[in-house]
Amino acid sequence: MRNHRYSPIVIAIALGSLISSLVACGGGSSGGGGNNNNPPPSTATLAQNAAKHGLKVGAAADSPYLSDTSYAATLGSQYNELTAENEMKFASVAPTATTTDYSGADALVSFAQAHQMAVRGHTLVWHQQVPTWVTTGGYTTSQLSQILQDHITNAMTHFAGNVYAWDVVNEAFNDDGSSSTPATVRSTIWYDNPGIGFAGQGTAYIKQAFNWAHAADPNAKLFYNDYNIETLNPKSDAVYLMAQDFKNRGVPLDGIGFQFHKDPSFDTAANLASVTTNFLRFAALGLDIHITELDIALSDSSAASFNAQAKLYGELATICVQNPNCKLFQTWGFTDKYSWIPGFTNNQKGWALPFDATYQKKPAYTSILNAWQ
Ligand code: XIL
Repeated sequence: MRNHRYSPIVIAIALGSLISSLVACGGGSSGGGGNNNNPPPSTATLAQNAAKHGLKVGAAADSPYLSDTSYAATLGSQYNELTAENEMKFASVAPTATTTDYSGADALVSFAQAHQMAVRGHTLVWHQQVPTWVTTGGYTTSQLSQILQDHITNAMTHFAGNVYAWDVVNEAFNDDGSSSTPATVRSTIWYDNPGIGFAGQGTAYIKQAFNWAHAADPNAKLFYNDYNIETLNPKSDAVYLMAQDFKNRGVPLDGIGFQFHKDPSFDTAANLASVTTNFLRFAALGLDIHITELDIALSDSSAASFNAQAKLYGELATICVQNPNCKLFQTWGFTDKYSWIPGFTNNQKGWALPFDATYQKKPAYTSILNAWQ
């Protein structure tokens, strides 16, 4: 059940102090009992607490890590949903023009099914991790259009019935615009370089991709996914205008994926209020809201940094559970052992996830768990 009697901000503030006191009294450590004033740490899993609210809690995973027994045990017990961090991307599933390879993704699906977990598809149309045979093939617009339609159809058909939702289009907008001008459509191989036939027509190519996706698997929920659209800003304005237009015209868009690659500097009252308001405007269009790639990158592994990270994780878990349309809280990985952040930041940042590199629960874990008590 969702509790809507209190405003998200009141809840966030209340939870923030609850989390701080739990963290201060060692609520984030595993094992051990409580003392006379504090109950022992909860033994509930993230999945159990999420399920109380009809929420999915997920993590991005890569199949080679499943042979790491602690990885598999943690993923399989704590989460009720997973996504492919890489293994459903175009370059992974179509290594050559005439071959497909779903082996990694299939291993993830098998693992998920053995552990009663839902599987989310990521991602069909993106400008990165496109196979070299596509980027260097010198294809015409009409050939590229066929290549993209075939890719969408092949992948969605392969996973039909086993993947409940897909990021159909990923990161299609630039980080530009102003308070009066929404962000522009990103120049990519699919839009205008040379594109699939809708160059200069804004979101028309995105609409085409959603229509192909719906034809390929009418039962899958179809998402647009992006970063830096979590708050009210010119980029989320552009996505909102597209979503509104698509809903008005019957384009099969079911939800928006908000990536949430953040660090503790994001934790301001203004940003949290802005996320809440932004979620509300998308929900008012009848769209589902998925938090798809959450991680909170730190510059060090101090207790202060872990506690700041925990506070923000808890606040975001609260904002999600307070919005009935927010149906997925997914982190980009779950253990610091395999996070993409150190590689992405040239080792300037790390420690971004709820479990540390030895699979111990961090304060962030406890914050999320407590947000869904
Ligand atoms: C990242 C993976 O985490 C890395 O392993 C890979 O090398 C590059 O892609 N936005 C997305 C994800 O939508 O697909 C990206 O994943 C992270 C940013």
